[in-house]
Amino acid sequence: MTTAGIDLISFYTPQYFLDLKTLAEKRGVDYNKFSVGIGQEKMAIPPPDEDIVTMAASAAKPILDQTDPSEIELLLFGTESGVDQSKAAAMFAHGLLKLPTRCRAFELKEACYAGTAALQMAIPWAIRNPGKKALVLASDIARYDLGSPGEPTQGAGAIAMLVSANPRILAIDPESGLYASDVMDFWRPNYRDEAVVDGKYSMRVYIAALEEAWRQYHTLSGHGFADMARFCYHLPFTKMAEKAHARLAKTAGIKDLTPDDLEHQIGESLRYNRITGNTYAASLYEGLCSLLDNCTEDLAEKRLALFSYGSGCMGEFFSGVLQSDYKKHLYSAAHKNFLDNRTELTYQQYEDIFQLGCPTDGGDHTFAQYRTGPYRMKGISQHKRLYEALT
Ligand code: HMG
Repeated sequence: MTTAGIDLISFYTPQYFLDLKTLAEKRGVDYNKFSVGIGQEKMAIPPPDEDIVTMAASAAKPILDQTDPSEIELLLFGTESGVDQSKAAAMFAHGLLKLPTRCRAFELKEACYAGTAALQMAIPWAIRNPGKKALVLASDIARYDLGSPGEPTQGAGAIAMLVSANPRILAIDPESGLYASDVMDFWRPNYRDEAVVDGKYSMRVYIAALEEAWRQYHTLSGHGFADMARFCYHLPFTKMAEKAHARLAKTAGIKDLTPDDLEHQIGESLRYNRITGNTYAASLYEGLCSLLDNCTEDLAEKRLALFSYGSGCMGEFFSGVLQSDYKKHLYSAAHKNFLDNRTELTYQQYEDIFQLGCPTDGGDHTFAQYRTGPYRMKGISQHKRLYEALT
């Protein structure tokens, strides 16, 4: 049987961050609430000349550097931080990445689930189109009101995944557990830049979606908890995954999940999120990169469990098998290099960037150049976003 899945996967996050120690001090909160209570240490902050398009293109660049663009006939962009109500972010990315005109390109939305929606649409397409590739982009900027409980979970980042038949990294299994339910746990009306959230309720809905999706997945696939070498979760903050995993173990009949078991089964997948914050649609796949980059054990031929959650809400439990040479095709060194070389912001710099906003007057605006990846937004003119490649 032809398999399909993730052939290459690359992650990008902005070069600036705010240390949550700084935020804790400013807000008069015990830092342990952030580092232990929600499990976060730093949050990534995009500078004014970076947005979801430049982040996604920056994530995709290493993949495009080793792929014939004419093979890419499907470009899917999952985001909940859309830059235009009509034009898909995929079209801007298509232009920046110089993809061929023979390409189906569009944007998908369902909160943090959109990256998985795109991946799961690309898989049957890849089986039907052997030799062709789909490029799946997921890119978001997580914003909550200043001083709100969600503030320390903010973050930003993007994932690019090349999806094909006979993938080199992760072959996705055909069975999925699905949970769709019309709830108001987290949302962002068109007139707001910051999300509105019922925090505690959102955590309960996440868990309910996980339990139901798992039950279905288990029934359909016959795979049990012990068949999974590791688990990756949607990561609004790392403590959420720890709570979710403990609950899943219980639901699956595992009696005593020890702290060592928890660390072994999900620890490596949490490393990047702890220092970037929530990357919404990219977050599950950032966790996958974190696992693959940080796990010293060879997981070839082993099965990974993945749980995707998007508020509103949509949950999906699925799995995939790591391919024999997967380690040879990772961008681990590049990921670690830029994560280790980011610039720390002061509280005032963070708030200035937060308050800046995009000009809306239709005039000509040129943006100052900050540290970005290989693409940046150089300005806005006559309501048109202007992007440029730096290399
Ligand atoms: P809060 O209400 O301010 O926090 O915000 P809290 O008072 O519940 O404290 C959090 C934890 O820290 C608690 O632990 C405290 O005990 C502990 P728990 O009881 O939960 O185990 N704590 C401390 N620990 C050590 N030392 C201390 C200390 N003080 C307290 N000194 C909340 C928490 C998650 C509600 C908030 O961050 C929030 O609203 N976040 C945004 C919503 C969110 O992330 N929801 C997650 C599920 S929904 C989802 O994942 C979808 C999403 O990604 C969006 C999308 O789909 O697009 C968000």
